[in-house]
Amino acid sequence: MTRSDPALLDVDDLTPEQAAAELARLAEEISAHDARYYRDDAPSISDAEYDALRQRNAAIEKRFPDLVRADSPSVKVGAAPQEAFGKITHAIPMLSLDNAFSDDDVRDFVGRVRRFLKYDPLKGPLAVTAEPKIDGLSLSLRFEQGRLVSAATRGDGATGENVTRNAETIDDIPRSLPKDVPDIVEVRGEVYMAHADFTALNERMVGNGGKPFANPRNAAAGSLRQLNVEITRQRPLRFFAYAWGEMSAMPADTQMGMIDVFSQWGFATNPLMKRCESVEELIDVYHHIEETRATLGYDIDGVVYKIDRLDLQKRLGFVSRSPRWAIAHKFPAEKAFTILNAIEIQVGRTGALTPVAKLEPVTVGGVVVSNASLHNEDYIRGVGQDGEPLRGGKDIRVGDTVRIQRAGDVIPQIIDLDLTKRPPDAEPFAFPTTCPACGSHAVREVHPKTGRIDAIRRCTGGLICPAQATEKLKHFVSRNAFDIEGLGDKQVDAFYADGMVKNPADIFTLRRRDAASLTRLKNKDGWGETSAKNLFDAIDERREIDLHRFIYALGIRHVGEGNAKLLARAYGSWEAFARAMRAAEDHAGDAWAELNNIDGVGEVVAEALVQFFSEPHNREVLEALLAEVTPVDAEKIADTGSPVAGKTLVFTGSLERMTRDEAKAMAERFGAKVAGSVSKKTDLVIAGPGAGSKLKKAEELGVDVISEDDWFDLVGEI
Ligand code: IVH
Repeated sequence: MTRSDPALLDVDDLTPEQAAAELARLAEEISAHDARYYRDDAPSISDAEYDALRQRNAAIEKRFPDLVRADSPSVKVGAAPQEAFGKITHAIPMLSLDNAFSDDDVRDFVGRVRRFLKYDPLKGPLAVTAEPKIDGLSLSLRFEQGRLVSAATRGDGATGENVTRNAETIDDIPRSLPKDVPDIVEVRGEVYMAHADFTALNERMVGNGGKPFANPRNAAAGSLRQLNVEITRQRPLRFFAYAWGEMSAMPADTQMGMIDVFSQWGFATNPLMKRCESVEELIDVYHHIEETRATLGYDIDGVVYKIDRLDLQKRLGFVSRSPRWAIAHKFPAEKAFTILNAIEIQVGRTGALTPVAKLEPVTVGGVVVSNASLHNEDYIRGVGQDGEPLRGGKDIRVGDTVRIQRAGDVIPQIIDLDLTKRPPDAEPFAFPTTCPACGSHAVREVHPKTGRIDAIRRCTGGLICPAQATEKLKHFVSRNAFDIEGLGDKQVDAFYADGMVKNPADIFTLRRRDAASLTRLKNKDGWGETSAKNLFDAIDERREIDLHRFIYALGIRHVGEGNAKLLARAYGSWEAFARAMRAAEDHAGDAWAELNNIDGVGEVVAEALVQFFSEPHNREVLEALLAEVTPVDAEKIADTGSPVAGKTLVFTGSLERMTRDEAKAMAERFGAKVAGSVSKKTDLVIAGPGAGSKLKKAEELGVDVISEDDWFDLVGEI
């Protein structure tokens, strides 16, 4: 080493050039040590030496914040797989918004709200606010006694990451609030990066040999989620407050009023927000915001409408993960032309052969797109689902110049072809009639009732098809199912190929079999002592699982998360559910009728369930799995302390304080099921004036009957 080797110099003596070289060397060296430690379980230096390297890296970054590399060890992405941020459970979940894509969707939204509330035009105008939808990432800020105590990202909506230290560096966020604010205040809004700051940051990153961010949203997310708060401090993040979570007292009774208050408390709020009194006014604001979009200096992707009165917001409540009182009116999708290089066929867990367009990479709205959805073979041939010709009846061929469209997080779509650019030798695409994974016939089923041919071609290989098996396993361990950390797509593929995991029960016997095996997991490529142990521990953590997750994990056709929840709630326990599904094979019996009577479960779903349970192989798989795993009864989950959780209710007569839709939504919010008629299974009838036969029936059967006011008392709403 020569005298000028920067590795030998004190941090304080480094020139910028030497510092850049040092940071590059440290990034490479630390990452190599990480791999030896985490992946190979074979560290080659002591912990103290390793820490010294990281400290040196941090010290140089502190002195030269502009030189921080995209692959710096202090940056979370690509760094050692450590538990980076603590978790914060949101006091009130952070939800998403339903989307509107046309003026008519906006009219429908306002109409739906009016009907739900029985708010007819005679009652006067219904005030709705309109404001830009900021394209950043949402953040929840909690203040206790006026002091900022935590900042959390949205995460999965229920739990986010603790980024408090980083949020404190954002100028638009006050650290403390005026004296007279409520004890608990949670302000929510969007963290974003302005265009000018984004361009300057990317220039700096590229200048330092780093990789630029694809768009301001990614730059904002990457900058907020930094382990090293000094880096966040150097990144010019901004914040708009537009919503709230827990509030110990409400300082206003309208959306507009709340935003005014936030602004008085020192938050940045969006100046384009307007209060409107008609759909036409909303649409005018939408167009106005769209026109000024290019001059705003930050990215927005639509306009959000919110019912202004907070008492009405409360009555409207939520449907699954979005509020009924708000909607996002999205700007039209961005489009671009590119070349279709190939069509790849993927096989899903139900055997569906799905064509995927492999595109010449192209940037659409700031994101590089290289795949697009092709739906099914009719779509490629140019025939729509309804048999109508698509795109003028033109087939899509490999080599074609195609126009793609990307809207939000939706998978890009091919919307048009430029036939003048078609290569002369381009051939129509021959959709395979055998499964690319197992070679079995792939067929299009005929619907037994309608006689229509299914648009989807399916592999008939069933159990012998490795693609179906691995996709089923991937679904089984996925986030909303068993959610096993460390068992992702890659691991499932590898375990399946090794023959270690062929069906779900195998996952839960892995540790035992591994202990008895000569080829231990910890010795395999990509694994080590720690990672193998972590995986086995993560698996053991899931031996008890909520019933609805268990049902969803089985991957029964047509049974998504929503249906799984309905079923779990209707049957309560695995035993009752499984028994009923066997009994429902008799389509003339009670069990079949009961299954079809569950609100939201139709005949197609019912049939898929019965078929699944009648298949002996599925029962064997379940038996093996249930020897390892215990589904937790649904009542236990739904029991949110509400006195009506798990109960079946009937509303009858005219209700005066709420509409029928509202009553149903409210009951469901408290974990109850609403039925249309009174039977032995009814637990409670809520009767308003004019109740007739249902009330009589309830009295005959000895079912409890209460008034609408009693109902509000019972569930504790005022
Ligand atoms: S209101 C209960 N207002 O959009 C819903 N959201 O698609 C509260 N967003 O997760 C959200 N600008 O990150 C609201 N002016 C705005 C917004 C906005 C951007 C984001 C937010 C949310 C997502 C939903």
